[in-house]
Amino acid sequence: MNVPGGVIVLDFGGQYTQLIARRIREQEVFSAILPCSASIDEIEGLRPAGVVLSGGPSSVYDKGAPVCDSRVLGLGLPVLGICYGMQWMAHSLGGNVVKAEHREYGPATLDRERDSTLFRGLPEHLKVWNSHGDHVIGLPAGFETVGRTDNAVAAIEDPSRRLYGVEFHPEVLHTERGSEILRNFVFEVCRAEKNWSRASFISDTVGAIRQQVGDAQALCALSGGVDSTVAAVLVHRAIGDRLTNVFVDTGLLRRNEFQDTLELLRDRLHLKVDGVDASERFLARLHGVTDPEEKRKRIGAEFIAVFAGEAKRLALSSGSDMRFLVQGTLYPDVIESVSVKGPSAVIKTHHNVGGLPKDLPFQLIEPLRDLFKDEVRMIGRELGLPDEILLKHPFPGPGLAVRLLGEVTKDKLEVLRAADAIVVEEIRRAGLYGKVWQAFAVLLPVRSVGVMGDYRSYGYTIAVRVVTSEDAMTADWARLPWDVLERISTRVVNEVRDVTRVVYDVSSKPPSTIEWE
Ligand code: XMP
Repeated sequence: MNVPGGVIVLDFGGQYTQLIARRIREQEVFSAILPCSASIDEIEGLRPAGVVLSGGPSSVYDKGAPVCDSRVLGLGLPVLGICYGMQWMAHSLGGNVVKAEHREYGPATLDRERDSTLFRGLPEHLKVWNSHGDHVIGLPAGFETVGRTDNAVAAIEDPSRRLYGVEFHPEVLHTERGSEILRNFVFEVCRAEKNWSRASFISDTVGAIRQQVGDAQALCALSGGVDSTVAAVLVHRAIGDRLTNVFVDTGLLRRNEFQDTLELLRDRLHLKVDGVDASERFLARLHGVTDPEEKRKRIGAEFIAVFAGEAKRLALSSGSDMRFLVQGTLYPDVIESVSVKGPSAVIKTHHNVGGLPKDLPFQLIEPLRDLFKDEVRMIGRELGLPDEILLKHPFPGPGLAVRLLGEVTKDKLEVLRAADAIVVEEIRRAGLYGKVWQAFAVLLPVRSVGVMGDYRSYGYTIAVRVVTSEDAMTADWARLPWDVLERISTRVVNEVRDVTRVVYDVSSKPPSTIEWE
């Protein structure tokens, strides 16, 4: 999606690139991220009000250091370079960038030497957040120093060309009044108009989908999670029941999840949903498999087979043009494939429907691909989605199969479902469900000895995993109150057949991951 008059962020592979776009959208101005390799035509074609050059891990002198087409500095558009973005801008325009004797990481004080539109309304001394090794020592012609930190030229400008640079990161919360610096860039320098709000996002997106789909039909693989549901509701607004959703029971869902989700989607959200019970197929495919990656691969392949079969059946029965596939892809899913850093190492094969066979000639509709999860939640709220969906914890595509270590069997799934239901119920009862990122049970493939009613017992071990996180990239184990852990443990051992022991997982991510497989 594009909204003209927004601010484009060109990504040099920085850690905080996503935050820059977010902070701009918080000012109700559209912002999208493009890789720094985007062509000048593509950038101009978006008709932006300005451009931000992100930070990045490289030095401008590194072999293969990321670069933009330097014509971006001559389009007459305002440009703000942040950290590496400022260094690249200075370097490209003939300034001098060097390795700093003292690298600056963390807090520093910016002392301003002259007035600048970028800092309008802000005090002369500001706490700012740095993360750089190189810095600019010689300014390109036409530039002035606006401010310094102890060790570096920290802000520069050429107001006549509307080119600005800051060595620190205004987008992170540790920079005092950083949002106001970005706001000054957006409104005072770029003169952007407010053009992005939840309501305008919804109406623009619905309009664009309507135009894209025309009279054709669309299909959506719905999981009942926040992303796919918000995407489906947006498309449904645009084309009504020409959207058919497919919701697959893999047999790996949590207790009552298939029925409850179907009811909610159909009765409360009025979506047309084709519920497919494929549990036997999935279990058969998993028979005898213990390797986690093999499980994931088989589940992914089976999912695609079921979905493709449904798509063909629905296309035939509707007799019309089923040409579009809706996906709830978010920005963090997109960036791995386009980032200048290249795709990161595969830790786990996350499964989605991206690997559909070529003979299903779908065009993709991905209305959320510029957004972050919390922005999707806000859009969902604006669309009137209930909290049951908006606040739902993430659930992996391969479902309980990656929380049941070893071979997946019906019996073990029943044990895990029962234990998981207790964990979630107790977390809710303690008022913690909305405060933690995920809370679930894991069934371990080891048995241990217990004593129950004077008899020796020998049963499964359940691990309880509860984590806090911002974005699932890093996570910490939740410091649950002892009494909550005690209730979970007592109930699981008493109520779930065949379980003799409950343990609490106290590993953070990294080095562990959130799921066990
Ligand atoms: P890990 O275990 O890698 O998980 O720390 C990070 C987040 O991703 C979820 N997850 C998945 N989601 N398909 C998904 O849609 C998957 O295959 C998958 N594996 C993990 C996990 O629940 C956590 O929120």
